[in-house]
Amino acid sequence: MSVKRSSIHGQWSSRWVFILAATGSAVGLGNIWRFPYLVGENGGGAFVLVYLLCVVLVGIPIMMAEIMLGRRGRQSPINTMGTLAAEEGLGRHWQLLGWMGMIAGFIILSYYSVIAGWTLAYIFRTGAGLFVDVDATFSKQMFSELINDPEKLLAWHTVFMAMSMVIIARGVKSGLEKAVKFLMPALFVLLLIMVGYAMGTEKFMEGIDYLFNPDFARLADKNFFSDILLPALGQAFFSLSIGMGAIMIYGSYLSQKSSISFNCFTIAFADTLVAILAGIAIFPIVFTYGLEPAGGPGLIFITLPIAFGQMPFGTFFGTLFFILLLFAAWTSAISLLEPAVTWLVENKNMTRVKATTLAGIAVWLLGLATVLSFNQWAFSFSFAGTVKENGLFDMFDIFTSNIMLPIGGLLIAIFAAWRMSRSATVEELGLGDGFYYKTWRFAVRYIAPLGVIVVFLNAIGIFKLLGFVE
Ligand code: PHE
Repeated sequence: MSVKRSSIHGQWSSRWVFILAATGSAVGLGNIWRFPYLVGENGGGAFVLVYLLCVVLVGIPIMMAEIMLGRRGRQSPINTMGTLAAEEGLGRHWQLLGWMGMIAGFIILSYYSVIAGWTLAYIFRTGAGLFVDVDATFSKQMFSELINDPEKLLAWHTVFMAMSMVIIARGVKSGLEKAVKFLMPALFVLLLIMVGYAMGTEKFMEGIDYLFNPDFARLADKNFFSDILLPALGQAFFSLSIGMGAIMIYGSYLSQKSSISFNCFTIAFADTLVAILAGIAIFPIVFTYGLEPAGGPGLIFITLPIAFGQMPFGTFFGTLFFILLLFAAWTSAISLLEPAVTWLVENKNMTRVKATTLAGIAVWLLGLATVLSFNQWAFSFSFAGTVKENGLFDMFDIFTSNIMLPIGGLLIAIFAAWRMSRSATVEELGLGDGFYYKTWRFAVRYIAPLGVIVVFLNAIGIFKLLGFVE
């Protein structure tokens, strides 16, 4: 049975626009802000290695499945799941997958916007030459001065949400297509320049060793499953934008002719490369200036300004860097809200503008909890062998990326490989029925679901209860 649906929200004008838009969704604060600080909190090389395995074994197969479902359903994730389930004679409860993703997107965007607000603040701080020749103490002080001021955080969070809402209201396609073509490559070039700077620092090799040498001795007081594997898996989902419908909705705008597998490999490769480059740029600075790798969410905002303060044309490069990082965050933020907006348009008969306004205001309000997590409402707790100091923000972050996204991914894998008819997936993926298709099917049927389940069971200590691990 051939399905010829089209999306009421439009279609990408070419395969490359899809790749750029999806890469725009994937590459963001997750690569440049979240990845380095998690690497620092989780002991370096071992975490990086496990992360890469998660991307290849679990991330890519699920990403292919998610895009495939999106393109076949061509609606908001909730309605796509409803339609596809009905087509296979399954119940409407599969829509819950879409609901969970939409809620995850809401929560993620609420704190993502606050962190993107820091980026906005740093554009102006760097541009004003504030960091010329600063030392580590001053840089730390500047950062804590920002996060201890709820009014500033609120103002920047508001600006960022407003910026995102403008683009979403215009429609992802017309809003993004042109800008994405220039700004993403520019960010990449700038990262290379920063890697070049890092190469000249005294402790470059120490940074590289920290990042790439999976020295398990550094993990002495950590539990491999709950403290390394769970956050690494969560980061793979977060960074690739999978498990919550963002990539599914982007897939729903993809032309029937385009190759899903080629697109996925390109996106995952670009996303991983950016994260690794960010790590190479940051850790040598951390060691050269005697900073703590486990510095938490402030890591890049403390380390990079020191580098900009030292390097030639640092004020220029620094300002440009934060502008491009802001742009990368922007293109991700848009995809976080798109599932909710399309659902409101489809089901509540709203215009795009009205749907965006409503959803955007709700997210903005929830963001207030994150604004206060760094000051008035701050409290600490322990997770994955690390002390987390920013209460609700950390909880939102941990709960969405380590729990909601992997469960979403698990359900996507189960639906695509166990519930959907084989012939429908053969047709939709367009890989033929040979080796490539069979490899994909094996990965989504067994490796990805088992991977997620094993990590979960371990993390919640079931194996411990059963006496499998010490
Ligand atoms: N992948 C984005 C980043 O790395 C964040 C994101 C997560 C976007 C989930 C969409 C969905 O910054």
